[in-house]
Amino acid sequence: MSSIESVLTETRIFAPRDAFRQAATVSGLEGYQALCDAAEQDYTGFWADLARQEINWQTPFTEVLDESDAPFYRWFADGKLNASYNCIDRHLEKRANKIALIFEADDGAITNITYKELHQRVCRFANALKKQGIGLGDRVIIYLPMSIEAIVAMQACARIGAIHSVVFGGFSAKSLHERIVDVGAKLVITADGGVRGGKPVALKAAVDEAISQGGCEAIKKVIVYQRTGIDIAWHAERDLWWHEIESAESDYCEPVWVDAEHPLFILYTSGSTGTPKGVQHSTGGYLLGAITSMKWVFDHKATDIYWCTADVGWITGHSYVAYGPLALGSTQVVFEGVPTYPDAGRFWQMVERHKVSIFYTAPTAIRSLIKLGGDLPNRYDLSSLRLLGTVGEPINPEAWMWYHKVVGKERCPIADTWWQTETGSHMIAPLPGAINLKPGSCTRPLPGIIMDIVEEDGTHIDGTGGGLLVVKKPWPSMIRNIWGNPERFRKAYFPEELKGLYLAGDSAHRDEDGYFWIMGRIDDVLNVSGHRLGTMEIESALVANPLVAEAAIVGRPHEIKGESIVAYVVLKGERPEGDDAKTIAAQLRDWVGKEIGPIAKPDEIRFGENLPKTRSGKIMRRLLRSLAKGEEITSDISTLDNPAILEQLKQTVG
Ligand code: PRX
Repeated sequence: MSSIESVLTETRIFAPRDAFRQAATVSGLEGYQALCDAAEQDYTGFWADLARQEINWQTPFTEVLDESDAPFYRWFADGKLNASYNCIDRHLEKRANKIALIFEADDGAITNITYKELHQRVCRFANALKKQGIGLGDRVIIYLPMSIEAIVAMQACARIGAIHSVVFGGFSAKSLHERIVDVGAKLVITADGGVRGGKPVALKAAVDEAISQGGCEAIKKVIVYQRTGIDIAWHAERDLWWHEIESAESDYCEPVWVDAEHPLFILYTSGSTGTPKGVQHSTGGYLLGAITSMKWVFDHKATDIYWCTADVGWITGHSYVAYGPLALGSTQVVFEGVPTYPDAGRFWQMVERHKVSIFYTAPTAIRSLIKLGGDLPNRYDLSSLRLLGTVGEPINPEAWMWYHKVVGKERCPIADTWWQTETGSHMIAPLPGAINLKPGSCTRPLPGIIMDIVEEDGTHIDGTGGGLLVVKKPWPSMIRNIWGNPERFRKAYFPEELKGLYLAGDSAHRDEDGYFWIMGRIDDVLNVSGHRLGTMEIESALVANPLVAEAAIVGRPHEIKGESIVAYVVLKGERPEGDDAKTIAAQLRDWVGKEIGPIAKPDEIRFGENLPKTRSGKIMRRLLRSLAKGEEITSDISTLDNPAILEQLKQTVG
């Protein structure tokens, strides 16, 4: 294969401010380099030392990394620990009355809960689960809205060695059914309903529907948290109210000490084809990844007020809501609602209200908030912020600049964190007191994370070329297996031609400073007149135009060029029609021609009020490719957030 070409040049650089650098946990490039060197000199020793420092072990490990059954790697395998003990109990001596969770409901009501209270609630609920026959290794489905209860449920499972599988509350009964069956769950924890953006969402009804579909005979009980009080169907022999079973239990539950490799959870992630994959994570290695990255990348301090806006239904809500921050004894904000309710200033209002110092969100949220009111942050006092983060997609340089200027007031470093459900924790991201930032780059790998860019046969690409992003060495928080499907695990992540390298599935290039730039998913790479182009750079060029809020690029087969470029564009203003649309499309084509070059000029531009996105906010380019080809959409769109948009995007301009 030829490598993937990088066509966009970004030259802006932002160094850490002196005060930030001096106070940072890892200070200056020397600090970062020293950690990287230590990992290079003694890879397993580096991780073993961290594991001893950062985790309380009930039985210390003597083995560090077992590679005998690669790629089924095992870390710290003869050690025993409990994740819930590490997230809660170990803070009780010194920080029992520190606030662990500041929960803000959709309607603005606030509930605070201390570590001591969290401990009681987790213990009671864990005891209740035990009474229902749940124990070591049993799988429990959690289908809850963002709530204190969702975190309690996860922690309670961890406490008794049960394996949770959280299903995002926005998923349908069909998706839920698929996951219940695949994971072989014994119990479901849900709520009567949820509230998002002032509107009720039914949850229990979806559970009833899913279970009625057969194949769920292993489900003996459904625990229902009463959130809204809406009417729900009740199966007396199966359904239990959360508050009733919790109140009957005692305040203490002895943690079950599990092997480090015991699965802490299984989280489903959609593959590009076929059924979702149950990504299986470990307890010890996973927790270590969450803790070290919280310290390194978020520079987390005891005094921080931390807020990650991700739902617990995603990996970000696992590592950076339910586990990482608690393991560090953080005070964190948990938000039930959506960024646009009651208006698009909600995030900024909450930052002001709770004096948030670390704020972590997704590029898709940033882009949509720019569209809805680019100056809204200026109405709030955001002076408490000291660090910003993003995750989930490449952040286009112009969206980065807005985040930097308007939200961060040019004071706050931005940690653009590249990682995946499968990696468990951050892999490439700036250590903010050490690494200079470049808008649009996730910068450099974390210490002890050995990344590379290679050709399709695994050959290392020297210099600044683009290619496949891979991880060269096993790392503690890596995926352990695809639940029940080791063969799929091996094929998807350790394909033979890569000879033991972990295939991330993204394309990326490295610049002359060794910075990584993610170019998009490999499946989305375009081939235009023999040039292989990632989607990210053309999209970013479009987003850099002052009229444009969001853009997505796909290829359409073309007899001569191989592929032609089709751009789907959302403007900051109204969706244009008729001659307006033609004029703007022509302007944007010229713009890309100037920003990148004629090779990247879209052959066609279509306008929509929005783009089709998954529930987690990722653009569904697969659908856009079908639309570009004029195909009817026959594939599964149950995970699509806004199906109505597809109609608009079928329309060609002129
Ligand atoms: O394509 C990359 C993109 O999201 C994928 C992982 O998605 P998921 O498993 O849902 O996890 C999302 C939260 C970690 C990656 O393969 N991605 C994630 N973060 C970034 C990113 N692309 C570019 N820059 C990022 N910071």
